[in-house]
Amino acid sequence: MNIEPRMPYNFADLEPAMSRDTLVFHFLRHQRVCYDRMVALSRGTEFETLALEELVRATERNPAHHTLYRHAAEVWNHDLFWHSMRPRGGGAPSGLMAQHIVSRFGSYERFTREFRDAGSAHFGSGWLWLVWRAGTLEIVTTSNAGTPLVRGDTALLAVDLWEHAYYLDHQNRRAAYVNTFLEELVSWEDANRALASLSAARDLRVPPRVRAAAELPLRRHRQ
Ligand SMILES: [Fe+2]
Repeated sequence: MNIEPRMPYNFADLEPAMSRDTLVFHFLRHQRVCYDRMVALSRGTEFETLALEELVRATERNPAHHTLYRHAAEVWNHDLFWHSMRPRGGGAPSGLMAQHIVSRFGSYERFTREFRDAGSAHFGSGWLWLVWRAGTLEIVTTSNAGTPLVRGDTALLAVDLWEHAYYLDHQNRRAAYVNTFLEELVSWEDANRALASLSAARDLRVPPRVRAAAELPLRRHRQ
């Protein structure tokens, strides 16, 4: 059976960027509730012994099990979200991620602008992602419990866009929340590790920049 979710830091470790209360409620009242419901719904079914990622993929394909899918996907999404942040985080990445961001977006500043805009433009609850798709980085959003895990993408960074993720700290100001995530919370360590794994599995050289950043078209953000 799947291992219970765990936070990679203490609840107060992200303060002042993210309050202890936000993390306590978020972890105990949302992710843990999803986990408990996932365990209850999968008990006695063919999904009971599957690892979390396999469970998400298997139930997504089966409309009869979409309630289980939604809860399992939320457990997985939150796990990546916790690991997309760290105490005293924030700022530009280094290593492979830095190279690919410049190659894809022209500059880190342009990436942050597009990332913030995508989070603000997303309607309703959901998730903001940086994913590896078809040999390059993409910014995407998903609605509700939607997850890149079932789309063949490799999720590198996750930001929870449900109001429970930011309302205590930022009220309805989602753009301020995403900005705080980028400037004070983001951790690139797991993303760089994931890119290194992809690199080991296939040729993942950084493509040369073809056009200047100002010439790049604005990306459409998919749901
Ligand atoms: Fe959440």
